[in-house]
Amino acid sequence: MNIMSKIVLVGDGAVGSAFAYSVLQHGIVDELVLVDLRKTYTMGDAADLEDVTPMLYPARVYAGNYQDAADADIVVITAGIPRQVNESRLDLVNKNRQILASIVQPIVESGFSGCFVVSANPVDLLTALTQHLSGFPKQKVIGTGTALDSARLQVALSRALNISTRGIDAYVLGEHGDSSFGAFDEATINGQPLRSYPGVTPELLTTMMHQVQGKGGQIITNKGATYYGVATSLTKICQAILLDQAIALPVSAPLDGQYGLHGLYLGTPAIIARGGIRAVLEAQLSETEHQQMLASAATINSLLMAVE
Ligand code: 2OP
Repeated sequence: MNIMSKIVLVGDGAVGSAFAYSVLQHGIVDELVLVDLRKTYTMGDAADLEDVTPMLYPARVYAGNYQDAADADIVVITAGIPRQVNESRLDLVNKNRQILASIVQPIVESGFSGCFVVSANPVDLLTALTQHLSGFPKQKVIGTGTALDSARLQVALSRALNISTRGIDAYVLGEHGDSSFGAFDEATINGQPLRSYPGVTPELLTTMMHQVQGKGGQIITNKGATYYGVATSLTKICQAILLDQAIALPVSAPLDGQYGLHGLYLGTPAIIARGGIRAVLEAQLSETEHQQMLASAATINSLLMAVE
């Protein structure tokens, strides 16, 4: 257990509140500060969440402000207007980049020197923007990236093949969005190459990726938002940082030559430990998969160019 680990959560909406509940259940934080424009609501949510602590792990939970980030280990940014069904990413990024700028500046001015962990969408762009606005070293700014998409792929494969998700080592990489792709050629199931696993066919994998790419929109259509999956992705990244786990997670990480790409954040495996990203890994991709990674990068870069 890390001594005095402190997280400041900016954005106490559905994702933020689910993250707060999740991180308290993992027993990895001693102090959790909720920051949101809705002061009364956030005070209520903090009061509700602190009732969890005697039954699980001791922690201080309170509604605070940006200045509380001064001695925090991590600032989690979930604040942002969630994508509406049929809303373009470009519309979303222009709205959320304004919100992001109003958050990052006071956080940096507080003297914060820890890691930013970002889930607001479009997450690859907003993670890059957080790094740009803060001027922080790139390894201290991490996005949830395709961690959620990879979890969705594992769920889809486990249901299709009637096996536990535990044995499935398969990543979705690239943009957290329509241009994401499954890195199937290196994936394994119970130690066996995925492509030769009983029941796996190219058609099945195509179906799996359609399910993964459509799942966020489907959940939003059915219940209005998604939050448990992305909140748990945030928790796993924070856990790796606070416990110095040095584990590989598929996150939105800064590419600096990986896949021949530079100067953007994209979903790729990275070693996460105390201090943030210890190494950005380059997954071994087939030529087809490499072209998919390049196409995903082109999507992000075209959005970056279009942003006002
Ligand atoms: C998701 O994929 C909306 O990005 C969010 O669930």
